[in-house]
Amino acid sequence: MTEPARSVKVSQTTITELMIPSYANFGGKIHGGILLSLMDKVAYACASKHAASYCVTVSVDKVEFLQPVEVGELVSLHASVNYVGNSSLIVGIRVEAMNVKTGVIKHTNSSYFTMVAKGDDDKPMTVPKLILESEEEIKRFIEAMRMKEIKTKIRHEMDDARSRIEVSRASEVLKNERCVIKLN
Ligand SMILES: CC(C)(COP(=O)(O)OP(=O)(O)OC[C@H]1O[C@@H](n2cnc3c(N)ncnc32)[C@H](O)[C@@H]1OP(=O)(O)O)[C@@H](O)C(=O)NCCC(=O)NCCS
Repeated sequence: MTEPARSVKVSQTTITELMIPSYANFGGKIHGGILLSLMDKVAYACASKHAASYCVTVSVDKVEFLQPVEVGELVSLHASVNYVGNSSLIVGIRVEAMNVKTGVIKHTNSSYFTMVAKGDDDKPMTVPKLILESEEEIKRFIEAMRMKEIKTKIRHEMDDARSRIEVSRASEVLKNERCVIKLN
């Protein structure tokens, strides 16, 4: 039996974490992988609250770190379900880093995680419908729906393009590129 529809706010989740020195890279900034791991956690928490089940990450869109995060900053990750399909959910995540001394908050990135809910049989299961209670929530749902359509189209085009690659024509195709062919 499918659970009743749930509103966006029921599953909205925020994780806040202090950026400690062991998270830093050799340049003293926070590793992108630390932020990705936190994003995956908050996406899981948000999706599983909506689905009331275990969820897995299927794909991640638009990971661009716009500004570096420093040791000592407080990073907050705000997650909301933007869209639900049958078994999939698209979770939008906004990442912000706060300098605790100055109170200045910078937006470091926004990403979209596609999660799939799984049942006890480990198969994708239908998730509750999403109740949209504001124009912003309607806008995000439609935007996610369009992005899903575009991604499916691109995936098919990439499969097609990959199947048409002729390695025998590489020297011609790559003549203006910054690579050197050295076949053994
Ligand atoms: C996600 C998974 C369940 C999909 O399995 P599948 O046999 O392709 O199942 P389906 O075709 O029924 O697709 C299930 C849903 O996933 C979505 N989906 C599948 N591949 C996708 C992709 N590449 N991008 C976005 N959504 C995808 C489908 O659109 C479908 O959504 P819907 O039910 O809302 O329509 C399966 O690939 C899996 O378990 N992957 C491993 C996930 C994991 O372990 N992640 C942790 C990282 S290690």
